[in-house]
Amino acid sequence: MELIFATHNQHKTIEAIEILGETFQLKNLKDIGCLTEIPETADTLMGNALQKARYVHEHYHCNCFADDTGLEVEALDGRPGVYSARFAGEHCSYQDNVDKLLREMEGKTNRNACFKTVVALIIDDKEYLFEGRVDGYIVEQQRGTAGFGYDPVFLPKGFDKTFAEMGDEDKNAISHRGRAMRKLVDFLKKY
Ligand code: IMP
Repeated sequence: MELIFATHNQHKTIEAIEILGETFQLKNLKDIGCLTEIPETADTLMGNALQKARYVHEHYHCNCFADDTGLEVEALDGRPGVYSARFAGEHCSYQDNVDKLLREMEGKTNRNACFKTVVALIIDDKEYLFEGRVDGYIVEQQRGTAGFGYDPVFLPKGFDKTFAEMGDEDKNAISHRGRAMRKLVDFLKKY
């Protein structure tokens, strides 16, 4: 089955291919010639995931899914949350976001945080939602070079490596998106 992943993010595409396996022919936005930055203007993860999936479904008339992820930090009252991509400003880099987070966390003893992902699937014109979450801590100094985003500062609970010190396979096994995507795969296998 061909499935479009509504993302321009190459890291996410590779992660998704590893999780979805051979059963699905996964294509991303670039593969279908969509170069548009799809609007993400909702104030919830679910709203943004649905917005992106609906955009692709309306314009390309295909089975597709989109995800939205947020990092929620307890000591920051749940920020950056749905605004994780733009935490340090409109056109900021991953490193800008990490720097801002570490600055805001300076001196904080409560380092609890979690990643949450919502995946919105549109298949045969019907919508379905899948959620994944991983709990952990924000470390005091960034560690590791793998992955993307906040990976160098997120230490999953029960592990001694940040996501950026783990290989893709280990990260996928426990990550927010890995968990949401496996729910998607289970659903699709039974579909
Ligand atoms: P998105 O809306 O799913 O692209 O995620 C929003 C932001 O959250 C991204 O720009 C990244 O900074 C961050 N993010 C999403 N997924 C991950 C992840 O797996 N690891 C680290 N950061 C992530």
